[in-house]
Amino acid sequence: MNKINVVTIDGPSASGKGELAKSIAHQFNFKILDSGILYRLFAYFFNLKLSNEEIASKINNDISFELKEDNFKILNQSDDITNYLRSEDIAKVASMLSSQKEVRESLFQIQRNFYDKKGLVADGRDMGTVVFKDAKLKIFLTASPEVRAKRRYLELQNRGQEVNMPALIADIKERDLKDSSRELSPLLPADEAHIIDSSDMSLEEVFSITKNLVKKEFI
Ligand code: DC
Repeated sequence: MNKINVVTIDGPSASGKGELAKSIAHQFNFKILDSGILYRLFAYFFNLKLSNEEIASKINNDISFELKEDNFKILNQSDDITNYLRSEDIAKVASMLSSQKEVRESLFQIQRNFYDKKGLVADGRDMGTVVFKDAKLKIFLTASPEVRAKRRYLELQNRGQEVNMPALIADIKERDLKDSSRELSPLLPADEAHIIDSSDMSLEEVFSITKNLVKKEFI
């Protein structure tokens, strides 16, 4: 298989994929795809009662991503919907929709369109196993549910959202189970993925390991 210039970072919720993807994109000047946000956008428009075709067209035409001070802003036309998309309410609908074949198919080409020859970092659940099977480098990033719940707690608190730790741990465990036991594109490491368990690692350590792998594969 011809390998393309993509680093895939798959793993469960709040494993630190997003932060790692941003750091790698920044370091190597690669484009970035947060595929979870596409599932969340799907959920957002689904809640507005749009059809799958209308949703795909909205994502293609009305949505823009702005990278500001190392943070993504997601705009629906000129409306900043970032905080709402990151909420646990939307995450639940996204998780439910992500088990549907039509939804995954609608998002497949949208995700492939993010490819850039100069390099792309794609994070999600099935980047290495389905969407970018032909990626040069595949990472599977994980951490214990408790560590991930704590990270998500801090993230949501920073956004000014109310959170309850036991409920968050329960939600994360439930979503893990759904994401990894679903029939379509279950959350699994690709055969050739480098598995990194970050439970006892700092972001810097994870970044350093990944950076060295990118250098080895790309340079
Ligand atoms: O990474 P996240 O929490 O933003 O993802 C939101 C939901 O979308 C999550 O329940 C799993 C789903 N998802 C998926 O099925 N495949 C992807 N590549 C990315 C996300």
